[in-house]
This record gives sequence, structure tokens and C-alpha cells, in this order.
Amino acid sequence: MKEKFISIQEAIEKAKGKVSIRGWVHRERKQKDMVFIVLRDSSDIIQCVIKKDTVSEKEWNDLQKVLIESSMEIEGDIKEEKRAPTGFEIEVLKLKVISYSEIFPITKDLNEELLLDRRHLWLRSRKMTAIMKIRSTVFGAIHEYFRSKGFYEYQSPIFQSVQCEGGSTLFHVDYFGKKDVFLAQTWQLYAEPEIFALEKIYTIAPSFRAEASKTSRHLTEYWHAEMEVAWANFDEIIKYGEELIKHVVKKVLENNKSDLEILERDVKKLEPTLKKKFPRITYAEVLKLLKEKFKMEIPWGKDLRTIEEDKLSSLFDTPVAVTRYPKQVKAFYMKEPDDSKKDKPVVNGVDFIAPENYGEIIGGSERESDIEKIKKRLKEEGEKIEQYDFYLDTRRYGSVPHGGFGLGVERFISWICGLENIKDAIPFPRTMNRTRP
Ligand code: 4AD
Ligand code: MG
Repeated sequence: MKEKFISIQEAIEKAKGKVSIRGWVHRERKQKDMVFIVLRDSSDIIQCVIKKDTVSEKEWNDLQKVLIESSMEIEGDIKEEKRAPTGFEIEVLKLKVISYSEIFPITKDLNEELLLDRRHLWLRSRKMTAIMKIRSTVFGAIHEYFRSKGFYEYQSPIFQSVQCEGGSTLFHVDYFGKKDVFLAQTWQLYAEPEIFALEKIYTIAPSFRAEASKTSRHLTEYWHAEMEVAWANFDEIIKYGEELIKHVVKKVLENNKSDLEILERDVKKLEPTLKKKFPRITYAEVLKLLKEKFKMEIPWGKDLRTIEEDKLSSLFDTPVAVTRYPKQVKAFYMKEPDDSKKDKPVVNGVDFIAPENYGEIIGGSERESDIEKIKKRLKEEGEKIEQYDFYLDTRRYGSVPHGGFGLGVERFISWICGLENIKDAIPFPRTMNRTRP
């Protein structure tokens, strides 16, 4: 076929006349003198009808061997057909089988584990295709947001020699027999040194957490969108987080309407995020709310668990920024504000809790500027200070107020798409039980 191929979406937009398309067989139904094929490409699906007396004998014979996922080129007349899955149909005049398929090992009744075993093939499903398109928009929109605000893209190492988010979730690497080499939990300790040169930086990179928890929110390898800014105060950090979320959600609503439809996502649930200012409440206020609304008694100083975050999120239709956490539940680098009380010390840390039970999507903070406080916290946590010497230099040579945050990209995608499990937000999920395929 010499004709220029167009996408199925373009063919549908054309609505009538001759079209040439190519793709994979999504469904097929063979009758005596007629074959129905639903063809799929990256853009959409379309029903194609092949009549025995319209095509050549060779074409008709080839067609008898076509199964789901065979790849084909098709030329024919497109017209509106209300009963077809996408409202259009092609009456086929010519066809060419590019490659036959064996019996495709994905059927309707496969359970979740079998679908994950065959993930490489399940990626072709309409559901996964829709999610991957949204994922692509999300990544693009994150870059777009930070670059529009004058941030430089910057990269930190994946092999690291210090922990940042707690030793219990570190992946140790066998590094030529050396101990104390870990996979990055975050870029943070390698990002802070760079703000003295570039001032405003961001990245999107994989982070690794040895999470033994099998929840719908945890991966062992996830993509982390992180930012770090010199001269910024706590308020400004929170504002960047809110703007980023709004920008990305807006882009998905603009670009991925049909994908959200395939996922049956109720987009009305995302709209308040664009229109409303996100509430900001302190940890102490959260405890009060949980007590008032749900009779939950959380003693001051205990971290918020999934159940508390979910109860809290049920009170709001936008993400909510929770601030002023107890110092004891947060990382060593978070700043203690001047008005922090001696008996109940807090830090300028912020978690953005997503609506609809999607949990913490952003964790960030203003960074502690007092080198002695940082050393004290590290010692309390049993860390070897010498290993952090490079990091402590950020406080020795012209330190400035600064801060940043990390956004868990798959958690964000899960919420945007309304997914039941974070595993579907990434092509090949890695969890405690799964590193294959
Ligand atoms: O709250 P976290 O641990 O914060 C940091 O790593 C900071 N150093 C970020 C910074 O300030 N630059 O992680 C940030 C986000 C969480 O809010 C969550 O969305 C996501 O990373 N996250 C995970 N996502 C998927 N699977 C996991 N196991 C995750 N752990 C954290
Ligand atoms: Mg966190």
C-alpha cells in the first residue's frame, strides 16, 4: 500500500471517504461471508467490516488466520455507524496482514496477579493505554511548570552514601563489596548543595524505598518530582506545591478527556482542585478535627497513619496542606520555627494529603539552618556525622533560608485517574513481591 497512513483518530475526524490505517486486532468475529475486526492503534479503536466478495481470495484466506493482536494494514471507506464501539465503521477494500499473532494470553477473567505476570502484554489494554497517556501528560506538565517558573533541571546520584528519609527503608547495594552504599530515597541531600549555584532546581527521577508494606500506595521504585529553592520561606514552598498540583491537573483535564472517560473517572471530583485554594491546617488542628468529627483520639506526637489521613481527606474536596508536625515524627533536616514550644516542638514540614483517600502526595519542608541542631538530630538517630560532612558544608559556607518538596508521581497519577492501586500508575510496578517481568 502506497497510501499515507493516518491514525484511527484522524480517520474518525475525517468521518467519510477513503482512509488507510494500521494497527493491531483488538477484537475479531468471523462469519461465513463477513468478518468484523476492531482495529486498535495508539490513538483509538475502530470497527472494520470485511465482506468476502469485496476483497481478493488471498486477502480473504489470510483473514481467516487473523487472531487478536495480529498486526494489519487496512484501506477502506469510513462512515458513521452508531452501533460500532466508537461510532464509526470502515468498509474494507484492501487489507494486508503484517504479522499473525498466537493466541493472546490475556482474557477477561484473569486475576490481578496474572495480569501483572503478563504486564508486558496487558500494557496494550485500553485501560493501561489511557493511564500511560495521562502519565505522559503529567511528566510533561511537571517539566513545564518548573521551567515556566525559572527552575533549572538538575540530577542527583542514584548510588548514595547517606540516608535521608530513615534507615529502615534503605536499599543496600553490593557495591564492589563496599557497605554503606544505598539507592536514592530522595535527591535532597545532593540537591541542597546545588541551590548555592542555581538557586531554583527540580528533577524527576526514580526513588527507592524498601517498604515492607503491601498497601495500595507503596512502590519500592517510584518516580519522584523534587524541587529545592534558595531564599524561599515555608509559605512559598507550600505555594509552589499548590500551583504545581493545579497546573498538572489542569493539563490532564485539557489533554486527556477521552482517557479519563475510558477510566470512568468522575472528573467533577478533580474540578475543585482547580477552583479552590487548598486549605492549610496545622497538625494540632488535625487532631482537633479528628476528635470533633470522628471521635478519634490521637495523642499529640503520634504520626498520622493512613486511617487518619483518609478521615481527614474525607472532609475536603481538594488536597489539604498539613503543617507544623511534631519534630519527633519528621526528618532531621526540617526547620524548627522560632515559635516552636519546648515541650511540644514542631517543624516547618508540610504534607499534602490528596482527596478521596489517596494519601500523602507531597512531602516537603523549610530546611533547618542551624548546623548544631542538625548534628544533634543526626547523632540522636545514630548516624555517623562524618558521612554527612559534605551536607553540613551547605550550612558552613554562606547558608541561606531554603526549602523544597518531593511529589510522588505515581500517587498523584493514581488520584488523577481514580485508580484502585498505585501499581497501575507505572508500566512495570516494583513491590516487595514483584520484580518481574
Ligand atoms: O515524604 P517523603 O519521604 O519526602 C522526601 O523524600 C523529601 N526528601 C522530599 C523533598 O523535600 N525533596 O517523600 C516524598 C513523596 C511522598 O509525599 C509520597 O508522595 C512519595 O514521595 N512516596 C512514595 N510513593 C510511592 N511509593 C512509596 N513507597 C513512596 N514513599 C514516598
Ligand atoms: Mg513524607
